[in-house]
Amino acid sequence: MNQDELKRQVGQTAVEYVEEDSILGVGTGSTVNAFIDALAASGKKLEAAVSSSLATTERLQAIGVRVIDLNQTGGLDLYVDGADEFDHHRRLIKGGGGALTREKIVAQASRRFVCIADESKQVGVLGAFPLPVEVIPMARSLVARKLVGMGGQPEWREGFTTDNGNDILDVHNMDLVDPVATEQAINNLPGVVTCGIFGIRPADVVVYASQQGIKTA
Ligand code: A5P
Repeated sequence: MNQDELKRQVGQTAVEYVEEDSILGVGTGSTVNAFIDALAASGKKLEAAVSSSLATTERLQAIGVRVIDLNQTGGLDLYVDGADEFDHHRRLIKGGGGALTREKIVAQASRRFVCIADESKQVGVLGAFPLPVEVIPMARSLVARKLVGMGGQPEWREGFTTDNGNDILDVHNMDLVDPVATEQAINNLPGVVTCGIFGIRPADVVVYASQQGIKTA
């Protein structure tokens, strides 16, 4: 099975977690796109959705889902999103698509976070995937120097602007043995909006597709 097929399978499985007439949080990325396709095919109706990116908003609206602002609703029951890496504690690296800040907000607002992935995203220790950090543009160089001081090698994702109008630094070789401590330390740097470590608020379950079928972590 190729990766697209694995994404299709896990997208379909994730639809089972969705309650009819609920307000759903929806993440960003190709795995989530497979989930949105499966949701449309299932015929399940939502009251509305809260989206983590402009790209996801467009996709949801294209299948007839009403997208509302997070401020228009209380907490969400369920958030479905992908990841770039996950470990056995269900801690994640996210932000390969640059939507990490809104994703972290919607995850925080949700009682249950179901992360969907394929087995290629599973790691023993987070950090092989370069860690995305969203920064206020004027602070980009300052934050990059601080990240070098923390042992990382930041690379400016040149030509890319987040939905919030900010820049992304992709940090290579960051030591993420203690992801929560590193998440806190990076998020404390002035100019950082947030980093792509989801350790303080990990996923509640990771549902991932493997060559042996659907598994959970
Ligand atoms: C978007 O910014 C990311 O956090 C995505 O959730 C992550 O990159 C997974 O994307 P894919 O499903 O496309 O691999």
